[in-house]
Amino acid sequence: MELKNKHILITGAARRVGRAIADHLLQWDIRLTAHFYRSKKEAQSLVIQAETQKRAIFCDSADLREVSEIKSLVEKSQQALGPIDILINCASAFYPTPLLQCSEMQWDDIMQANLKGQFFMAQASAQQMSKRGGLIINIADTHASIPMKNYSAYCISKAGLVMMTKQLALELAPAVRVNTVSPGPVLWPEDLSASVQEKSVAQTLLKRMGCPKDVIDAICFLIQNDYVTGQNLVVDGGRSLV
Ligand SMILES: NC(=O)c1ccc[n+]([C@@H]2O[C@H](COP(=O)([O-])OP(=O)(O)OC[C@H]3O[C@@H](n4cnc5c(N)ncnc54)[C@H](OP(=O)(O)O)[C@@H]3O)[C@@H](O)[C@H]2O)c1
Repeated sequence: MELKNKHILITGAARRVGRAIADHLLQWDIRLTAHFYRSKKEAQSLVIQAETQKRAIFCDSADLREVSEIKSLVEKSQQALGPIDILINCASAFYPTPLLQCSEMQWDDIMQANLKGQFFMAQASAQQMSKRGGLIINIADTHASIPMKNYSAYCISKAGLVMMTKQLALELAPAVRVNTVSPGPVLWPEDLSASVQEKSVAQTLLKRMGCPKDVIDAICFLIQNDYVTGQNLVVDGGRSLV
């Protein structure tokens, strides 16, 4: 797939990994829908950046736990920039939910932000994509296949996302390809202690942390290679083999 003039919607695009993906893809002559949830200031800076680069950009907030907000986001995005060609489901909720303390509210919050939201984003985008062709990339986690102590709801949500990818690849073929990218440690959560960071790096085969560019390279591979669908591209320095 050529990137020129493609309409790409990235969820969670205002900051961190989503922002790095947006920054990178803006090099090309794309049309970008940048979704954000609470990071309005960072989203505004992305809009200014895209406008400086003379790219068409639409930016809107949505709580991806709410299907009505998803439908509105996709509808407004398509009104502004035309049908979506590539959807990158990057937004996600991440916090510990130890089994004995996890509340129903936390479980619902994580499942909705990390799984339900991605499903309905795909459904809303695929209405047009299934007629014109397209690509959906779900960002999961190496911990979709290996458990992480005290993060059961997060890991289960990401495991569900990997399965969702295969299911949607089956249902949307041949018009739409659907793939997952599963990163290992590429950008530490802001409050992660140095000792946990060290332990996480030690658990990779390559004995180093990755970076957002590793995720971007995987995304670019999946954009370019038209013969890959339903796959989970794990970019984790070998973490999942240990
Ligand atoms: N960072 C890593 O090392 C790493 C490792 C493995 C996998 N991943 C995966 O890679 C992706 C990006 O990682 P990240 O660390 O950049 O993610 P992150 O900072 O944890 O979250 C990304 C964005 O998700 C948005 N979000 C959270 N809850 C939402 C909701 N209910 N509705 C809409 N948006 C919501 C937030 O947007 P606002 O800021 O606008 O509120 C947030 O900025 C995630 O899917 C993550 O699971 C990351």
